[in-house]
Amino acid sequence: MDLNERLLSFISRSPTAFHAVENTARALADAGFEELIETQDWSLAPGARCFVRRNASSLIAFRVPRQAPTGFLLSATHSDSPCFKLKESAVFSSDGYVKLGVEKYGGMLCAPWLDRPLSLAGRVTLREGSTIVSRLADLARPVALIPNLAIHMDRSANEGKSYDMRTDMPALFSLAGAKGPEALVAEALGVKEEDILSKDLFLYPCTPGTVWGAENEFISSPRLDDLQCVFGCLQGFLEAGDSSCLTALCIFDNEEVGSSSKQGADSSFLTDVLRRVCFALGMDESGYLRCAANGFMVSADNAHAVHPNHPDQADRCERPVPNGGIVIKYNANARYTTDSVSAAVFSEICRAAGVPVQRYSNRADKPGGSTLGSISLTHLSLECVDIGLAQLAMHSCYETAGAKDTEYLVRAMREFYSRSPRKTPAGISL
Ligand code: CO
Repeated sequence: MDLNERLLSFISRSPTAFHAVENTARALADAGFEELIETQDWSLAPGARCFVRRNASSLIAFRVPRQAPTGFLLSATHSDSPCFKLKESAVFSSDGYVKLGVEKYGGMLCAPWLDRPLSLAGRVTLREGSTIVSRLADLARPVALIPNLAIHMDRSANEGKSYDMRTDMPALFSLAGAKGPEALVAEALGVKEEDILSKDLFLYPCTPGTVWGAENEFISSPRLDDLQCVFGCLQGFLEAGDSSCLTALCIFDNEEVGSSSKQGADSSFLTDVLRRVCFALGMDESGYLRCAANGFMVSADNAHAVHPNHPDQADRCERPVPNGGIVIKYNANARYTTDSVSAAVFSEICRAAGVPVQRYSNRADKPGGSTLGSISLTHLSLECVDIGLAQLAMHSCYETAGAKDTEYLVRAMREFYSRSPRKTPAGISL
């Protein structure tokens, strides 16, 4: 299968952060990585290749070098995307319609969600004998739709529209008398509905991803932000050669809602794992800090491409386009972590990999967003660069990017993870 087909397959099998992490864990296990459990003791030998999950929605995979690690080489991406979360008591009816009440998860563009077949996936937690267990669920067929109001009933619909979560966004689910969502999930899992104690279920668009354009230049799919980077970093990590550093792939949940959950980038997950790995290898706190001081992180989260119909929304000089290569993101107020050192290091790595680089900063009068890098650095100080792949319609439920850029990211990350950088007062050797 070609790389973009594999990317689209990964995304379609990953309707929620839980599934993205499950599919990543499977790919790692297939490649010989062993899962470590946070509640157990870890014993690690040189050359060990392992991964750890937290909350089943964040994951850190790492490779231990043959000698004591000389530093950390990390990438950070996020497993979640803006979507609608089903309320715990979601079902309500009127006029014979059964509807699902939802809450916004993250800041999405609402309009693209309307008039689209939606399915339901996530995690349910249930009683199994005397144990409480969690299972991933995916109905994998259209079961809901949020209908627009006809133009005849809203003549101003094309002149700018605001969406009210309570009245506009409940999803039509069935007609009276049909089964509720818990019954469908129980059926899909082969469990009793009354054993389901609680759930984290999300609506997701069923529209499949596609490669398109006069010369197949584009790729469109749900959740390109940030599963395109998750996939690219994972492939690069799996294909990399040896490094003298501890190399790690970090995938965090909850980036779209501020990262402050127990498994998010603003939690202790990363430092807990890195510390435990160092200590299991017989290093002490000082050894851990030496590795951090000789550490480098690539915070990979998609970037805004210049919009074809709104070119004036982009900066005058920094104008990323699809298929233009890796986008290095800059922000004077440190919302992005890139500085001249980290940008230079990563640009050199891209040059060695034959990967073009472009630059992004917000238009000077726009605040823009922030992402994983600056949040991670509050827990662990190391060199960090913020990058992404150029995309259109960020936070739509159907986003568009360049078909060549996935491969650029894989190549850049493979090169990055194969390096053994050394930082000295005289400079950084790659
Ligand atoms: Co993102």
